Amino acid sequence: EKILIFNKIDSTNEYLKENYKKLPNGTVVVATTQTNGKGRYGKNWASPEGGLWFSILLKPRKPQPGDFYTKISSLALINILKKYGINARIKWPNDIYVNKKKLCGILTEAVYKGELEAVIIGIGLNVNNEIPEHLKNTAISIKQLIERRINPLRFLNNFLKKLRTLHAKYKNTPTLLTENWKKYLLFKEGDRIIINNREILILKIEKDYMIVQDCLTIKSIRSIHELEGTV
Ligand code: BTN
Repeated sequence: EKILIFNKIDSTNEYLKENYKKLPNGTVVVATTQTNGKGRYGKNWASPEGGLWFSILLKPRKPQPGDFYTKISSLALINILKKYGINARIKWPNDIYVNKKKLCGILTEAVYKGELEAVIIGIGLNVNNEIPEHLKNTAISIKQLIERRINPLRFLNNFLKKLRTLHAKYKNTPTLLTENWKKYLLFKEGDRIIINNREILILKIEKDYMIVQDCLTIKSIRSIHELEGTV
């Protein structure tokens, strides 16, 4: 496996999108800092020194559905975090949360040129980095949780090993993967949760949307694609 480490780069996902053709399957790109880190929906992703900002390039011969890669990544992250004494959950659709705060975000992107040419799994994990002031109420780092610094590259190594195991374990059993992924969800079907001061009931969780009902106006059943706002 090829690992490229950059001191400073715009975005590890962008780097792989531009260079995937000449790089082998399984290449990992890590950056100490990103100047233009990207979150989902075009949001900016703060990437100061001390965090673990990386992307994995896959060139699957037999591609899996898009959510497969995010799901095995979430499960691998939760497994490794546990080894560091951290009990994390998946905040649907694909954030890793601890104590109601975001520890990690995943941005999986696909490159199509007529057919699928590459899958890029981008992962941003708050490790030893400071959380920017405006995110302090909603984000947290490993350092804050266990009150010590850990080695980000060691974490990465453990994660990559686990990811490979889970890839092999679930590649022919997508239903089992979804079942196991559901076990780690922060909110489950039947839960009532408060988002932006409004209570909603989760009726059904699908792979890329969720059916919810507003508890105040019980008639309004709708589907949502993101849990936006403060929980
Ligand atoms: C999200 O929660 O919105 C996803 C955040 C993903 C951030 C990571 S950091 C490494 C990789 N490079 C990027 O520009 N983004 C992803």
